[in-house]
Amino acid sequence: MDITRVRIVVNDYNELVNLMLNCTKCRLHETRKHVVPGEGPLNARIMLIGEAPGETEDEEGRPFVGAAGQLLTKLLSNVGIRREDVYITNVVKCRPPNNRDPEPDEIEACKPYLVTQILMIKPQIIVCLGRHSAREVLMMAGYPERSVSSISSIRGKVFNVKIGDVNAKVLPTYHPAAALYNPRLRSIIEDDLRKVKELSNNLGRSGGGILDYI
Ligand code: URA
Ligand code: SF4
Repeated sequence: MDITRVRIVVNDYNELVNLMLNCTKCRLHETRKHVVPGEGPLNARIMLIGEAPGETEDEEGRPFVGAAGQLLTKLLSNVGIRREDVYITNVVKCRPPNNRDPEPDEIEACKPYLVTQILMIKPQIIVCLGRHSAREVLMMAGYPERSVSSISSIRGKVFNVKIGDVNAKVLPTYHPAAALYNPRLRSIIEDDLRKVKELSNNLGRSGGGILDYI
């Protein structure tokens, strides 16, 4: 199936955000406090995709603002990437109760938002934080599920993908929450983000983003 067929037709980004803010397409809407659509410049060249909002994100309606988010912001800054320059979102936009993994039907219900965000923002580089994000994004690009079975075997690798008219480099890494409990993962995530920074420098400022979408 061509994944872009699930794209949501909207006039602009705000309309997409409003759909997310009012969404009741899966059971997660019953327990969330705030939807977390994502944030960042709409012409960002780098897009970061996490798994699901946690408790702090659910309180604030913003992605990666809790402990894992603070670590992520620090690791980005260590390699010279400003958080304000990247677009950050998650596979599902509402917090699963008690931070359980999102269920397959919840991921499926939420997927049109992520697909539409990717098609609008047209990132040159997509950083997948954790296995769930890597699986969803690489499967969107046509990779079989078995190719994404373990994050340790694919982290730091660069996958050239085409999602609709978006050609992007996908680089999976560990989820920063995992690095809170296992500090050895911090330097690995940092190495992977350094690679992202180098790739981004090499790619230069070509490419579109929201400006050629509107
Ligand atoms: N973990 C995620 O995957 N996303 C967030 O926004 C916060 C924590
Ligand atoms: Fe809608 Fe996604 Fe929230 Fe489910 S997780 S209610 S599909 S925005």
